[in-house]
Amino acid sequence: KILILDFGSQVTQLIARRVRDAGVFSEVYPYDVSDEFIRNYGAAGVILSGSHNSTLEGDSPRAPQSVFELGVPVLGICYGMQTMAAQLGGKVENGKVREFGYAEVRARGHTALLNGINDFVTHEGHGMLKVWMSHGDKVLDMPPGFKLMASTDSCPIAGMADEERKFYAVQWHPEVTHTVQGKAMLGRFVHEICGCKSDWNMPDYISEAVEKIRAQVGTDEVILGLSGGVDSSVAAALIHRAIGDQLTCVFVDHGLLRLNEGEMVMDMFAKNLGVKVIRVDAVDQFMGKLAGVTDPEAKRKIIGAEFVEVFNAESGKLTNAKWLAQGTIYPDVIESAGKGKKGQTIKSHHNVGGLPEDMKLKLLEPLRELFKDEVRKLGVALGLPYEMVYRHPFPGPGLGVRILGEVKKEYADLLRRADAIFIEELRNTPYEAAIVPGFDQDAAPRNWYEATSQAFAVFLPVKSVGVMGDGRTYDYVVALRAVQTQDFMTAHWAHLPHELLGKVSNRIINEVRGLNRVVYDISGKPPATIEWE
Ligand code: XMP
Repeated sequence: KILILDFGSQVTQLIARRVRDAGVFSEVYPYDVSDEFIRNYGAAGVILSGSHNSTLEGDSPRAPQSVFELGVPVLGICYGMQTMAAQLGGKVENGKVREFGYAEVRARGHTALLNGINDFVTHEGHGMLKVWMSHGDKVLDMPPGFKLMASTDSCPIAGMADEERKFYAVQWHPEVTHTVQGKAMLGRFVHEICGCKSDWNMPDYISEAVEKIRAQVGTDEVILGLSGGVDSSVAAALIHRAIGDQLTCVFVDHGLLRLNEGEMVMDMFAKNLGVKVIRVDAVDQFMGKLAGVTDPEAKRKIIGAEFVEVFNAESGKLTNAKWLAQGTIYPDVIESAGKGKKGQTIKSHHNVGGLPEDMKLKLLEPLRELFKDEVRKLGVALGLPYEMVYRHPFPGPGLGVRILGEVKKEYADLLRRADAIFIEELRNTPYEAAIVPGFDQDAAPRNWYEATSQAFAVFLPVKSVGVMGDGRTYDYVVALRAVQTQDFMTAHWAHLPHELLGKVSNRIINEVRGLNRVVYDISGKPPATIEWE
């Protein structure tokens, strides 16, 4: 197994992820674990992460010296390279130019890490690598025993190696996808240099996670707010696998769920998996609180607060519970770490299951280290249905932010039905590899649901005139929204086939009495957001 020491870089978990992708077990620990811990850990190799710190500052973090005395390979990345240089007798200087983003480095020295890996060869015959750099400081002198492994114009020592001791260091970030050969580099390190086999996989992950959860909670009882979304569902299935009936899930129906969602969740968890689930019908309560409220942020706050209230009231009855489980995943961890520093709140996102403060429960977050696609794979491996695990994301406030202005039960009922028709048709329409700018999905999409990242209907509380049969109608409008995106920060509107749109429109107007007009949203993000509120 590989030990990753974290110096506080935002992308440390990406290192762990790439190592997992290479089929090797790895764990991330803070850089300041004890020498004793390091010696007892049994690592086949150690990776030192990047950091926002500078090794030149007085009390900047250092790797435990024992890392370099273990006799196993060590890979320093960015800050990890600088601290390795500083700790082993080299010299680091404050670079006059900071280097951010794309860079081309020249591989040198025929090292076991880089030899034969390159993105292109210059006409002088130098192997070049396209990498992603982000640093201010740089190594000025290599420690004794090291040779040059890579260089750029502005960073002459961009990589160094002591192949005798198997110490390697790179100034760039092999863990990010912008470093084209990053995966190959990390694969080389763990397989060839550390000698680890690719023998670690999802079933192993499950048994390790199960052991961890058991060790953590012992005989205590755990509660979990189940929303029906991917993360809380996978967390529930995993924790249930670990501790069975010590887990109780609370599922709050706030009346803003998709069509038949409540029944689906109950069927899946209570019936099929045998999980203890308490379903709370809080529709009237939510609708009451939302009556007369039109401001999107006010609506979000009410739904969030009310959710916590209902969840607290219900879980307060479970007096033996000592833990609150949440489906927090790694991107949530990064996002909340960044909050309050910079970045403006465009929308106050809330995730179902805010921590009730007065309950003094300990937090159990077994998905904290995983990325979304890993959570999905885990879900499938735990036996959750593919369709559920690969569903589009659904916001915590649910249909509350898809009914513009005041939320009413009548509107929610109309919207639910229109939305279900749209989703059904997307699923039923085969995807003919259309050329879609900016969208590139790992698995080839089979239908338009899979070819879009998020799709839904939005209720517009506006009436327009129509004619059906011989009669005049005066009914509401729904807008259809379908987007394609990698990260939900920017998005393209999906170029859905006109026949598909036509069919959806026909079905909605014919089948949902109360709606007589369907429009399609062709705004990108930015300037629009994905949701309408
Ligand atoms: P926007 O509308 O900001 O949405 O482009 C980006 C992604 O975030 C989801 N979203 C939310 N998720 N609580 C959530 O849990 C929220 O309040 C919320 N608002 C937006 C949205 O569905 C999209 O996937």
